[in-house]
Amino acid sequence: MNDQSTHDHEKKASAISAVTLVRDGMIVGIGTGSTAAYAISELGRLVSGGLDIMGIPTSYQSEMLAIEHNIPITTLLEHPEIDITLDGADQIDQNLVAIKGGGAAHTREKVVASAASRVVLMVDSRKIASRLNHAVPIEVLPYSRTLVERQVRALGGMPNLRMAARKVGPVITDNGNFIIDADFGVIDDPERLNREINAVVGAVEHGIFLNVDEVHVGTADGARVLKRTNP
Ligand code: A5P
Repeated sequence: MNDQSTHDHEKKASAISAVTLVRDGMIVGIGTGSTAAYAISELGRLVSGGLDIMGIPTSYQSEMLAIEHNIPITTLLEHPEIDITLDGADQIDQNLVAIKGGGAAHTREKVVASAASRVVLMVDSRKIASRLNHAVPIEVLPYSRTLVERQVRALGGMPNLRMAARKVGPVITDNGNFIIDADFGVIDDPERLNREINAVVGAVEHGIFLNVDEVHVGTADGARVLKRTNP
């Protein structure tokens, strides 16, 4: 297998492993991205076999996929308590601190994760790192872009406005905002950086996730499960 098909195989394996945690009657947060897409497909397969769940999507992408796979969907307004959320990530350290938002969906993903009793991430093996150094996506009100960039620089970060691929100009999130990818190099203290970015005026939400309960890491023949030791 080439590198890409190895990563895809691991993503699928991680998703299939994580979906085994879903039980009848659960409200399930449905994450965003290519790994979450494998989980949605597997959930759809189980729903067609009788699994009785309702999903809360975290993006237009996951909503469309859930509909395509006939997964009943509901809203956070109706179900503010979620049993489990299944989502991907861009990088995860040994303490299960994650950086998310490569798909610009981290705001809704974080809202859903904050309402979930169990936060489960699914990744291929290249996403596990000894120290976090991935740029931190920050969703910002378009009006406040320059102000946020100045605050990111004051925190020691290098802000980059994320540009769209098949649209001129910047990426516009599902919430109508911009994304600034803030490069802080190696992040020595993610909890401190989380607090610092939380205090940035004009930022809606950022991609550091501290409340991850477990991570399913895809392997050649299944998945290994990392669990938080200090829940
Ligand atoms: C969406 O904004 C992200 O948080 C994704 O969950 C993350 O980027 C992982 O995506 P992949 O599973 O496509 O790598």
